Amino acid sequence: MPTSAKNPHLPFGDQRMAPWYGKDIISVKQFSRSDLEYVFAVAHEMRVMVERVGTFDLLKGKILANLFYEPSTRTSSSFAAAMERLGGSVISINEVRYSSVAKGESLPDTIRTLECYADVIVIRHPELGSAAIAAQAAHKPVINAGDGVGEHPTQALLDAFTIHEELVQMDDLTVTMLGDLKYGRTVHSLSRLLSLYNAKLNYVSPEILRMPPEIIAELEAKGIRQAEHNALDKVLPETDVLYVTRVQRERFESEEVYNSVKGAFVVDKNIMAGAKKKMIVMHPLPRVAEINVDFDDDPRAAYFRQMEFGLYVRMALLAMVLGKA
Ligand code: NCD
Repeated sequence: MPTSAKNPHLPFGDQRMAPWYGKDIISVKQFSRSDLEYVFAVAHEMRVMVERVGTFDLLKGKILANLFYEPSTRTSSSFAAAMERLGGSVISINEVRYSSVAKGESLPDTIRTLECYADVIVIRHPELGSAAIAAQAAHKPVINAGDGVGEHPTQALLDAFTIHEELVQMDDLTVTMLGDLKYGRTVHSLSRLLSLYNAKLNYVSPEILRMPPEIIAELEAKGIRQAEHNALDKVLPETDVLYVTRVQRERFESEEVYNSVKGAFVVDKNIMAGAKKKMIVMHPLPRVAEINVDFDDDPRAAYFRQMEFGLYVRMALLAMVLGKA
C-alpha cells in the first residue's frame, strides 16, 4: 500500500476511493498483490482506450515534469506519451546540463522549483536513494524512473503487466533472470515484485555480477525459491519467463572489468531451441548484444510488446496518483 499522503485536502471518503491519489511511487515494496491487480485493470482499460480513441481528456490541464539526469529513450518518452494521451502536457528536462543543475543547484531545490509548475514529477537520477530524497522535498507526487543501482518500480510494474498479458497466470512461474543482476535496477525491482506470487527465481550471471545478497535474503525470508547459476543451459528448459538484461557499462569503475564480462551471455535462435514452446523472453531494453536479432521474429520474443505495455502502465500510474483512476 502507498506510504505517504501528500494531499491532506482530499476528504477522507475520497481518499478511500482513490488510494493512490497524491502518493509517491518510489519502490515496488509499496505494492501489494491487490494493488497490482488494480494497476493491471487500469492499464488494461488504458490499452482499450488508446486502441479505440488514441487520446482522451482524463488528465486535461495537468502537467508532468519529466526530469532525467541519466539517458533514457523508453522511460522518458513513454511517460511523455502517457501524459499527452491523457490530455495533459509535459515539461521535459532531459539535458540537465542546460538547466540550473549545471550551476550547482541541489536536487531538493530543483524539485521545489518544478512542483511550482507541474502536478507530478518523474525523476531518473544516478544515485541510489535520490528519488526518495526528491519525494521528501516535494508536496506533489514523485515517481521514481530509476535511482542508480536501486529500483525502477514503473519498469517492474510494466514487466509484471507484460507477464500477466502474455502468460495470463502470475503464480507458479519459473522466471530466469540473466545478465547484470548486480547493477541492473530492473531486476532488483522485478524480483521483489514477483515475490508477491509463488514464483521460482533463477539468477544466471557472471560471478562478479550476482544478485545483491540483501535482495536474496529479503526474498528468502518470504519463502521464495531462488537459485544462482553461472550457465543458462540447465535452467532454460524449465523457464517460463527469460528476463535478459544489459551489462550496465556506466556503473563499472574500470573499462577492463566491463570488457571481461560484457559478452558473457548471448541469447540467440539456436540457444532458444532448448526452451519451452510456450514461454516468453523479456528485456527492459536497450539491448547491446545480449539478444541476437535472429530471435526477434520468434513469437516468444516479447520485448517489443513489453515496451508498448509500458505506455499503458504509465498512463495508469499517472491517472492513479492524480486521482483519476
Ligand atoms: C533500463 C534502466 O534504465 O534501468 N532501461 C529502461 O528503463 N528500459 C535498463 C537498462 O538501462 O539497461
